[in-house]
Amino acid sequence: MTADAESFLRIVGQRRLSGELQVHGAKNAALPCLAASLLTDEPVRLRRVPEIDDVSRLLDILSGLQVESSAADGEVELRPAAMSAGSPPDDLAAALRASFLVMGPLLARTGEASCGAPGGDVIGARPLDVHLNGFRALGADVVTSAGRTTATAPTGLRGAEIVLDYPSVLGTENLLLAAVLAEGRTRIINAAMEPEVVCLASMLRQMGARVSGAGQHTITIDGVDRLSGADVELIPDRIETGTLLIAAAITRGRICLTQTRADHLKSLLSKLAEIGCVVRRSDEMIDLDAVAGVFQPANVQALPYPGFATDLQAPIAALLTQANGTSIVHERVFENRTQHLDQLRKLGAKIVADGPISVISGPSPLDGAVTVGTDIRAAAALVVASLAAEGESQVSGLQHLARGYAALDTQLRELGAEIEIVNGGDTLGDRSAVRPPAAES
Ligand code: EPU
Repeated sequence: MTADAESFLRIVGQRRLSGELQVHGAKNAALPCLAASLLTDEPVRLRRVPEIDDVSRLLDILSGLQVESSAADGEVELRPAAMSAGSPPDDLAAALRASFLVMGPLLARTGEASCGAPGGDVIGARPLDVHLNGFRALGADVVTSAGRTTATAPTGLRGAEIVLDYPSVLGTENLLLAAVLAEGRTRIINAAMEPEVVCLASMLRQMGARVSGAGQHTITIDGVDRLSGADVELIPDRIETGTLLIAAAITRGRICLTQTRADHLKSLLSKLAEIGCVVRRSDEMIDLDAVAGVFQPANVQALPYPGFATDLQAPIAALLTQANGTSIVHERVFENRTQHLDQLRKLGAKIVADGPISVISGPSPLDGAVTVGTDIRAAAALVVASLAAEGESQVSGLQHLARGYAALDTQLRELGAEIEIVNGGDTLGDRSAVRPPAAES
């Protein structure tokens, strides 16, 4: 089976999580690094690539752009061929936001790029002005009509100073992917500082690009004429790490996650400690102990990195339903990332919301319920809450979960959760074949 719209997770709650797990490579690092293969005609190997639907779909898009690939055991070999202008099929473009990342490399290499409206989670307006204004600053003509964006630069891109209106993650990555082959120096000011941007920059440097400052507010790029292949290991998935830690906390469990990066999760780890978990960490290991003590309420603001990750805002809201008092969660990155709240209420959570601000009163006893995840992290939050609920819960919307988590059900089962996928026997991550995209709502 595949985790389609008919599948659901059956979870019997109140099982304490314990044990040790390795986390997967990062979804949001895999996607820009895959797109970077469009910048070279030499082979590229990515290691620690999560088996998730967004990766399958981007590989499909790359295949249509003359980059063939093979994947096995978390390794993806990409074999770019002679590059010519092209465009992702509209249905694949609409299946994930990262489809738009082909624009920067195509524009830089062929002087022409085009992409239909990119999809992804429906969590806000998600405009593209940062990408488009950046391409214009690099000398491209950019036209958007009926959702399709076309950018042309027949005489090539020229380095420029680009001041981003917002430190957009994909916007920064797209401009980085374009500027590495532009003539002269580019400075991206107010750049996103996420670890995934740093991972992409480090891959580009391995390919021969001249990039400095990734991970800081200003990235400087000196364009080169051509780039070589690369062999890159992706960074660990900080959002998968965070989701598992929060899941362990809500079950009053104790888990140890290895091959992760504690330094990428400082905001979450300090918040978990404030709530009352005992967190021990070394560079690549995080041990969380939530067995004893009363959970304290907390205030959380989702912000660009290194602030608290918006992708963990819904999961931590689920945890805060178990804190002893009133917590406030303020989503400040996306304007409509609160669709999990109604579903959490079905489980018994007491939450009053005013736009992006949620006031959570706890502790609320949670009871099993049937809920629907409407995006990747909303679905994860419902899984987290169901782990703490008395009795059986069902979480559907797994086509969203499968976009971003390689095997959340298996991981939780290994840690002691009673969780299974109903309507088939597969796990969320156990699929090597590329499947057609689910329709975006
Ligand atoms: N924004 C603009 N103009 C733009 C681009 C973005 O105003 O041109 C605004 C957005 O509307 C939003 C804010 O900037 O309010 C942040 O958006 P950003 O562009 O940074 O998000 P993204 O790059 O589209 C990536 C991740 C998301 C993650 C965000 C924020 C990937 C493939 N996606 O999206 O991941 O939530 O950064 O950290 O890297 C997920 O994994 O579940 C996910 C949604």
